[in-house]
Order: sequence, then structure tokens, then C-alpha cells
Amino acid sequence: MRLLIGVSGGIAAYKALETARLAVKAGHSVRVIQTPTSERFVGRASFAAITGAPVLTDEFEQDPARGSYPGEALPERAPISHLALVERADVFLIAPASANTIAKLAAGVADNLVTTAALAAACPVAVAPAMNNRMYLNPATQANLKLLEQRGLAVIPPGEGELASHGERGIGRLAEPAELLAACQALLGDQTVPRPVSAEPSGAPALQTGILQGVNVLVTAGGTQEPIDSVRYIGNRSSGRMGFALAEVAAGLGANVTIVAANVKLDAPAGAEVVPVQTAAQLAQACHKRFSDADVLLMAAAVADFRPAAPADHKLKKTAPDASLQIELEPTEDVLTTLAAQRQPGQVLVGFAAEHGEGALDYGREKLARKRLDAIVVNDISRPEIGFDSADNEVVILGRDGSERWIAQSSKSDVARAIVEEVVSLLAASLTTQPSVVN
Ligand code: CTP
Repeated sequence: MRLLIGVSGGIAAYKALETARLAVKAGHSVRVIQTPTSERFVGRASFAAITGAPVLTDEFEQDPARGSYPGEALPERAPISHLALVERADVFLIAPASANTIAKLAAGVADNLVTTAALAAACPVAVAPAMNNRMYLNPATQANLKLLEQRGLAVIPPGEGELASHGERGIGRLAEPAELLAACQALLGDQTVPRPVSAEPSGAPALQTGILQGVNVLVTAGGTQEPIDSVRYIGNRSSGRMGFALAEVAAGLGANVTIVAANVKLDAPAGAEVVPVQTAAQLAQACHKRFSDADVLLMAAAVADFRPAAPADHKLKKTAPDASLQIELEPTEDVLTTLAAQRQPGQVLVGFAAEHGEGALDYGREKLARKRLDAIVVNDISRPEIGFDSADNEVVILGRDGSERWIAQSSKSDVARAIVEEVVSLLAASLTTQPSVVN
């Protein structure tokens, strides 16, 4: 079924996320449109991650997916009408439907994309109210709901129990996601009971154009250089290719991408902002400045673990023909570990580990746990045909849940795509495992 979900404002918007997730798991193609107020409760990036499709919130914005539903080919031309999504839907579910949205529907007001779509809908429309009990029981709301039913809309009644406002109980809780989905299926004559919600990630959805729209992705790339004196440094062989490929894929899917690039000599990927840095300290500073705004951190840079404790500000001279030189090294900050300690719910952190030969996966797993990451991408640098300066890579993506995904040798951009697919799944999983709130 092509299911269009219209989300209006209310704490229960988080249940619409779960409904979308259930519907996707049950094999339906889901698109979401939101009222501007609903974005205060759940951002469009959350719905995009779950449905694998861009989310629209405005009648006048272009749909990057051109009115298509996930799994459908992208039409050659953008549709003329901003109502293409509702015209092509099998069922339009408005959940949660706030008292205000219900009143607008009853009056035929079309002042945002959700109410406009409802007026234009030719498919069955289901309305799931969610609000405070006094608002729900108010005669105005009751009369509006009755009117909607008389006009053939399906009203999915709210439940009774604890409400969002502290200490309040009563009627007004949005129906449970499984009930919402069952009601939509029933409207199409499909009585199959939806499968129970699982806490596991739903697997990587297909990457549809615009799926990362509104998602802020911070990528680090390249290798840091730590000055010994005014001309010499301690560096590493990282070219930045993997990080730039990741940035290119993410930007191509609509993300706002910033690359903190340590000594990378490559052209910037289209649409990404590049912040050049040289040392681990500069990289750390650039990341700290941007991390709180990032939804996703892809830490692909090779960051020095040590730096000369007292770099000379001039070129060091040989003191005698065969004299040796001692350089004292001091540890640098482990940027990823520090950032992980400050992470906010919903942020996805991915580390990268270049490991040598046997035991690579064990080292990777140890780093995944120690640095408290969502995933770590491990590659074996003992193989000359992949890694560092080569155009190809072969990696294993280890997940926090114990998953292991092997990406066979392929171009760095194909490997980047596989990593971004994993990120989309992680974003979706992180959004549906946040602490539950009533109503
Ligand atoms: N990393 C970091 N800051 C550092 C070192 C590493 O943020 N000072 C990040 C890297 O960008 C990478 C991950 O941590 O995403 C793993 O890097 P790696 O060098 O493999 O980890 P280390 O903890 O330094 O372990 P090792 O002893 O193997 O060097």
C-alpha cells in the first residue's frame, strides 16, 4: 500500500514515527507530510530516515522524489501539482490529528500541506485524534469529528489513560501505532494484523533521493600533520579519499555536509563545506565547534595519537654530523572519545579503524566499545590493493548490536554508499528507541 501520513502538532507525533516504521516493516511504501507545528515535536529528518524518502512540510516546496513513493522509479519530470503525493496515495492517515487540524478539516480550511492534501484526497482518509481530554470532549471537537465521519472519513478513536500533561488522565491518547496501521489496512480491505514492533533496526532502506534532507553530517577526512619544526612534521598516509567519498554520497542524498579536512589535496565534493585543518588540535577544535549541530559524525580522518611536545619555531639544524635527535612526543586528544562522551540522543557516531592483518575485527570491536560508537568501519591495511592511496577499499562495518557487514572490494564511492546505508538504518533505529512519552 502507498501510505501517506500527515503529521500535525502534538507530543504524540513520536507515535507517528513508530507507525511509519511499522508500515515500512510490513512492506508498505510510506511518505510523510508534516504541519509546521509538528516539526517542533519530531523533525522531518526523523521521518525521512524511517521511510527512506524525503518529507515535505510546505505546499510550495519541490519534492526531491517527484511525487514517487519508496520503491518506485523516480519520474523524469517533477509533477506540476504539490498534491501528487495524496493523488497517488492508497490511504491518507492523519496522525496525530490535533484539535486545530480537526477543526480545519471540518471547515474545509486548506492552510498547510496536510489540510490541503486532505481536501484534495480521493483515497480513503483516516483521522486519529490526539489531545488533552478536555479539548477532545469539548462539543466543538466532538461536532467536528462527527462531521468528518458523516463525510466518510474514518476516525480512529483515541484511547484512555495517562496524558502528556503531568498527572492528567482521561481520553485523548493517540491510538497505538499497530491500531493505526491496522485501521489503514482495513480501509483497503486488508485485515492482516501488523507484525509486533521490534527494537531491532529495520535493515537498510533503499537510499532514495533526498533521504538525508535536513540531516547535518559532519565528516572528518585526511591525515593530521604534527609539526616537529617550522618545515617538518609527523604525518600519515591517509589521502582523504574515503572521507570525501562519504561526504559526496551524503550531500547527494540531501544532507548538509561539513568536512573537516586534514591536509587533503582533492577537490571538494559538490555541496559540501570544507574546513581545512593541519593538526590534531585544529581538527579537534573544528569538530568540537560543530558537533552539537551534527546528526551524524563520520570520523574517517587518521588523527595523530602523539605530537612533538615542543615543536621548534625554526628549522632544526644538525648539531654534529652523526648526532642523533630525540623528539619527545606527548599524547593528543582522542577526539572521537571526547565527542562520544558529549553525544545527545539521536546522534549517530561512526568511527574508522585501519588495522593490520589478523585480529583486525577484534581490534575494531574493542574500539567500537571503548569509544562508545554506533558503528565502526574496519579495513585491513596489510593489503596493498585497498586502503590509503588506492581508489578501492574493502571494509567490514561492525555495529553496536553485534552486527557485521562485509563490503567486498569496490570503489571508495560504492563503499561510501554502503556505509551511508548503514547510517540511515542507525538514524532510524536511534529515533525509535528514544524513551517513550505518553500521548
Ligand atoms: N581518533 C580520534 N582521535 C585520535 C585518534 C583517533 O578521533 N586522537 C578516531 C579516528 O578518527 C577513528 C577512530 O578514532 O575514527 C579510531 O582510530 P584509531 O587510530 O584506529 O584508534 P586509536 O584509539 O588511536 O587506536 P590505536 O592504538 O590502534 O591507534
